[in-house]
Amino acid sequence: MKIAKALSLLGFAVAGITLAGCKAGGDNQGLEYAPQMYHSVAYEPLTQIKDESQGDWLSNREDEKGEFFNSNVYNPHGMNMREPVEGTVPRNKGGYLPYRYKAFEVEAAAANLTNPVELTDEVLEDGERLFLQYCSACHGKGGQGDGKVGEIIGGVANLTGGAYINLPEGHIYHVITKGKGRMGAHGSQISPERRWKIVHYVKQVIQKQ
Ligand code: HEC
Repeated sequence: MKIAKALSLLGFAVAGITLAGCKAGGDNQGLEYAPQMYHSVAYEPLTQIKDESQGDWLSNREDEKGEFFNSNVYNPHGMNMREPVEGTVPRNKGGYLPYRYKAFEVEAAAANLTNPVELTDEVLEDGERLFLQYCSACHGKGGQGDGKVGEIIGGVANLTGGAYINLPEGHIYHVITKGKGRMGAHGSQISPERRWKIVHYVKQVIQKQ
């Protein structure tokens, strides 16, 4: 009888702790199992616990602060990660600046942009591969607007003739990036460097300029 009573008390205690542990929300993470696994001593860029006493029941830190304390006192507001300096511009992979021209600003792009990628045989090879991959379905292998998809959607520009021959590099780059009319934007699929390689290929090989 005594054992049964003890067991039921134990059962209540376990249930109570479990239920208390479920009560999490907002800044309260509930009861943590093995809390030292969750609370980093190293600075965490995405969390900040400024209360020095938090977790002191568990702490064996050398700086005698609570185990959960995670705040860099040398930064403003104790932030763990500093904010970038005002006016900081993010660089894309490869050091490219973000593309700022809006879709309708094709003329400005044509007038101001120059191809930053040096023209080499290797670049033309890459350009060919990329053109076949991303453009030929509509524009055709030779750029004459006769790709299989092009046949169906119709109205695909023939890049080898007419006014298209004289398109400045910046214009082509802009159209690849933002799209034009019935051609969708490819900026999110193709990195800036690859777009410029395609531009070289279009100018040098397809348009023989
Ligand atoms: C889904 C089909 C499709 C794909 C893929 C496509 N294009 Fe186009 N492209 C078009 C169509 C349609 C037009 C005509 C757009 C219009 O004027 O309405 C066009 C027009 C153009 C023009 C002329 C823009 C102008 O100012 O009139 C260029 C340059 C061009 N495409 C280059 C490319 C390059 C380079 C690629 C590959 C990165 C590519 N296109 C991929 C369908 C496509």
